[in-house]
Amino acid sequence: MRTVYIKTYGCQMNEYDSSRLADLLHESHGLVRVPEPDAADVLLINSCSIREKASEKLFSDLGRLQEWKTLRPHVLIGVGGCVASQEGEDIRRRAPYVDLVFGPQTLHKVPDLLNAARRTAAAVDVRFVEMEKFDNLPMPRAEGPRAFLSIMEGCSKYCSFCVVPYTRGNEFSRPFDDVLAEAALLAGQGVREITLLGQNVNAYQGRRHDGRMADLAELLEYLSCIEGIGRLRFTTSHPLVFGDRLIGAFAHLDKLVGHLHLPVQSGSNAVLERMKRGHSVEEYKAKIARLRLARRDISVSTDFIVGFPGETEDDFEATMALIDEMRFDLSYSFAYSPRPGTPAAALADDVPRAVKEERLARLQAVNLAHARHISEGMVGTTQRILIDREAPRGRGDLSGRTENNRVVNFPGEGGSALVGRFATVRIVEARPNSLRGELVDREDPVRPSLDYTLTERCS
Ligand code: SAH
Ligand code: F3S
Repeated sequence: MRTVYIKTYGCQMNEYDSSRLADLLHESHGLVRVPEPDAADVLLINSCSIREKASEKLFSDLGRLQEWKTLRPHVLIGVGGCVASQEGEDIRRRAPYVDLVFGPQTLHKVPDLLNAARRTAAAVDVRFVEMEKFDNLPMPRAEGPRAFLSIMEGCSKYCSFCVVPYTRGNEFSRPFDDVLAEAALLAGQGVREITLLGQNVNAYQGRRHDGRMADLAELLEYLSCIEGIGRLRFTTSHPLVFGDRLIGAFAHLDKLVGHLHLPVQSGSNAVLERMKRGHSVEEYKAKIARLRLARRDISVSTDFIVGFPGETEDDFEATMALIDEMRFDLSYSFAYSPRPGTPAAALADDVPRAVKEERLARLQAVNLAHARHISEGMVGTTQRILIDREAPRGRGDLSGRTENNRVVNFPGEGGSALVGRFATVRIVEARPNSLRGELVDREDPVRPSLDYTLTERCS
């Protein structure tokens, strides 16, 4: 048996890409994905360049691999993802023992690149080739009741700090019918919850079979009709293109969870302006207020960057004030790092590292306290969860997720047969990273008929 090990850094889109790549290499070369690198015949790194630390990790991994490869000269080493896209041939200049280099849009070329690398020398392909990738990947194989589904690639927002438009290219959406077909296939394989992925999913514009373009709200409506799919999420969105139709989807689509990740980055208009986000703090707050009218108890999480060039103490306090006002759920926050090739990299990175770290720690402490408060407020309530696995630390417990994406562990009478079913649990305790619950009721299993046809949206 020949094997491939894939190490994935970064976002969920990279995770999705890695699993599709594994499917592809299984089909093309019979390679079986293994969880450890030691016995692998092919070792691939799917890299991330969003922040400084992410790309540094790639080069320190590669440094370690030099000796590793001397002991295993037959192993082919490949680097893909966003660092590969930015650095291209330079990866091989820094690490000549790398055999192949591919970008986020040339995943489908990896089988050919492997053949080429085996026959001759190194093979590099990091072009942007719209849609070719999705047209050339095999249909996915589900691993459990939750799955990711990429609906678009790239980003055309060009926020001044962000490398994504340069590494993944401009936005392009997968055709509407292809997305539905993939979702129906996943449902047939036991998937009950789908997370639609894209850097900017709410800019989705997919061509339908009748030539008309459909937006994210319409896509969600059709996905809601697929038998077996009980829950839908999407990430990430940009506040600027979060329109009324999408807000309306939260009012009338029961399967769309009451949880939204909507990055704000900063609570200061001056900083938002320099970040080229295209919206003000007030506009962001107005969007959330409208969302709360559509779905009263929606939980919102966000992303922050602290220490952006020119961020003053007052700017930072404005971010802290926004956090206090909005009471975000568990969010992500990062110290700014200049990314090569982005407009912000031309600004002086003038907030000292120690100040960035101190602000980050303060922000994270408050945000964590809010998230804990939300968890504690859930104690005593009943929640609908999707049971997705047996709890890792055993004792017969099962584990599931609430709509606001919290893990609930509970005594699993019924055992693993319940995995993939929706259930109601009562929350009895809030722990730092999970909730503890008791089973109240379980829903019947769904067995989709698999004859999904694209006719009209269900009512
Ligand atoms: N598509 C998403 C963001 C993708 S990047 C959006 O709409 O905002 C994920 C997060 O990484 C961003 O939201 C931002 O908070 C952070 N990030 C991106 N570039 C960064 C940089 N140069 N320094 C620090 N954090 C950064
Ligand atoms: Fe990056 Fe802004 Fe797009 S953060 S991914 S350029 S929306």
